[in-house]
Amino acid sequence: MRKARIELGDVTPHNIKQLKLLNQVVFPVSYNDKFYKDVLEAGELAKLAYYNDMVVGGVCCRVDVLDGQRRLYIMTLGCLAPYRRLGIGTKMLEHVLNFVEKEGNFNSIFLHVQVNNDGALDFYKKFGFEVVETKQHYYKRIEPADAHVLQKTLVKS
Ligand SMILES: CC(C)(COP(=O)(O)OP(=O)(O)OC[C@H]1O[C@@H](n2cnc3c(N)ncnc32)[C@H](O)[C@@H]1OP(=O)(O)O)[C@@H](O)C(=O)NCCC(=O)NCCS
Repeated sequence: MRKARIELGDVTPHNIKQLKLLNQVVFPVSYNDKFYKDVLEAGELAKLAYYNDMVVGGVCCRVDVLDGQRRLYIMTLGCLAPYRRLGIGTKMLEHVLNFVEKEGNFNSIFLHVQVNNDGALDFYKKFGFEVVETKQHYYKRIEPADAHVLQKTLVKS
């Protein structure tokens, strides 16, 4: 049998509805029109993941600058449940890691993960992310409402 193809592609006005549908299925939080408007401007920071030409995943990040620290924030990185543990999340995260390495001016990468999301915690820890903080009542409409902040430090400051 031929090996499955996992590829990443740009998010465009033509396929953004697929990203919206995917995020609705994968995440308990819903994202507004502004989120998707920004995603269309995000270039390499937003990608769709294809498994044999089917959209099965998506990643959306933004640059966050605070107190002279330039950080990459992963807003969403998700894969449809039947396609998990096939390397699709790895492909998307490696894209993000390659991007920050190439740019060279990021201090860290960070994201929020719901405290009960053991799969995501294991996934990110595998790539050198650590829990640096736990925020109580971070989410408004979902339970548990607490979130871990996961961070991977790139440049010691
Ligand atoms: C987290 C997520 C993106 C991982 O995607 P994925 O395509 O399944 O990840 P990969 O197949 O590349 O996994 C790579 C490695 O991470 C670890 N890992 C991934 N999912 C795991 C799980 N559920 N339990 C334990 N380890 C896990 C494993 O070490 C895995 O390697 P292996 O399969 O060879 O053991 C996926 O589970 C997902 O979409 N979850 C819902 C959305 C979400 O919570 N996103 C995180 C917040 S942005």
